[in-house]
Amino acid sequence: MKISLPENSKMHSKSFTFGVATASFQIEGAADSRLPCIWDTFCATPDKIRDGSDGKQACEHVALWKEDVNLIESLGVDAYRLSLSWGRVINQDGSLNQDGVNFYINLMDELNRRNIKVYVTLYHWDLPQHIEDEGGWLNRNTAYLFQDYADKITKALGDRVYSYATLNEPFCSSYLGYEIGIHAPGLATKAFGRKSAHHLLLAHGLAMQVIQKNSPQSLNGIVLNFTPCYPLTQSAEDKKATQIADDYFNQWYIKPIMDGEYPAIINDFDTGDKPDIEPGDMAIISQPIDFLGINFYTRAVYQACSDNQFVQIDMKDAPKTDIGWEIYPEAFTDLLTSLNNTYSLPPIYITENGAAIDDHIEDNAVNDIDRLEYYQAHLNAVNNAIEQGVKVDGYFAWSLMDNFEWAEGYLKRFGIVYVDYQIQKRTIKRSGLAYRDFINQRID
Ligand code: NOJ
Repeated sequence: MKISLPENSKMHSKSFTFGVATASFQIEGAADSRLPCIWDTFCATPDKIRDGSDGKQACEHVALWKEDVNLIESLGVDAYRLSLSWGRVINQDGSLNQDGVNFYINLMDELNRRNIKVYVTLYHWDLPQHIEDEGGWLNRNTAYLFQDYADKITKALGDRVYSYATLNEPFCSSYLGYEIGIHAPGLATKAFGRKSAHHLLLAHGLAMQVIQKNSPQSLNGIVLNFTPCYPLTQSAEDKKATQIADDYFNQWYIKPIMDGEYPAIINDFDTGDKPDIEPGDMAIISQPIDFLGINFYTRAVYQACSDNQFVQIDMKDAPKTDIGWEIYPEAFTDLLTSLNNTYSLPPIYITENGAAIDDHIEDNAVNDIDRLEYYQAHLNAVNNAIEQGVKVDGYFAWSLMDNFEWAEGYLKRFGIVYVDYQIQKRTIKRSGLAYRDFINQRID
């Protein structure tokens, strides 16, 4: 089986960017050469990570980065999306850590030498622990510390970076990390979710100001995740509940950026649950972005329940990936077209899409046909959205290689390259070979 798109697809053109993505904490290892972060602390807390693992070694990418650049090049991709570890490049006193900066400079120089565009995310969840000790994202000052980090690192990296994203999935940082506590820092207080989200969005806006000044030549924006919401039935109650869920989980993070305001559900919150919005904040948050990064994996189905609330329904008989997420590619097309109809969007990049599959290596090969089918279906879903007028300029597979999957530890594999963690061996899976072949048959 191959990956294929309709012959007339715009995604066949070389002006459409194909890439692979990773994140610092998930692959780097080398924890001793950076500051401790909230995920180190979370991993050291009993029962937080399913296999009791941590990010101390991960894929040992800091040691093996040259091999990994060879691997990326061998896939024939146009671009590589990575994130920077804040605590590797900035010391506790706020100064630059030149050794850490040099690691990324060497990596980026090598990627650029091979014509692989560098897409950087400044914050993929690894907040330095000393900042969390002062309240983390609940403390407004963290947004200003982030701006300072963005200012220093964009100056230090010069013109090596093709694209900067400020944050990756602020929903996960705020909701999973501060509201329900299944991610670091593991706080579970309703009011904390919205309060931390506001400071994250403020951090995005403040950072955008300095990035646009220091690096006007790069494509600068943010990466948001969306889980499109569907009603279980067409009843007015289920539809209303679904709308509330969508505002809470999805629109909450994009509407402030595009429209300068939170969804109207904010008016229904108790005063104590509302974010602390200061005059001028919404203007900072809503300044223009050059691109919107979208991460998509699955959809969610909702039913109404008492008090105008919603409950998520498990679609028992539906096909699912190894992490239990429903496979529903139509939602990807629906998402892109509905965002396009709702907002006045800049060009979109699909900054993540992929599947966890229970992979097995045999005779040096991984026959991950289910992942291959997932990519086939989802690339076609993106193509359908493009045909309906949505401007999508690129697509990144999540992930380049198996890595530390947060609360799931190393139990869930998302890579198109298999990693044997014992011997740190990388093996391109069947899906990776198909992605490579698909990318390499493009014409101008
Ligand atoms: C989103 C996150 O950005 C990434 O870190 C994670 O591994 C994937 N989704 C899969 O859960």
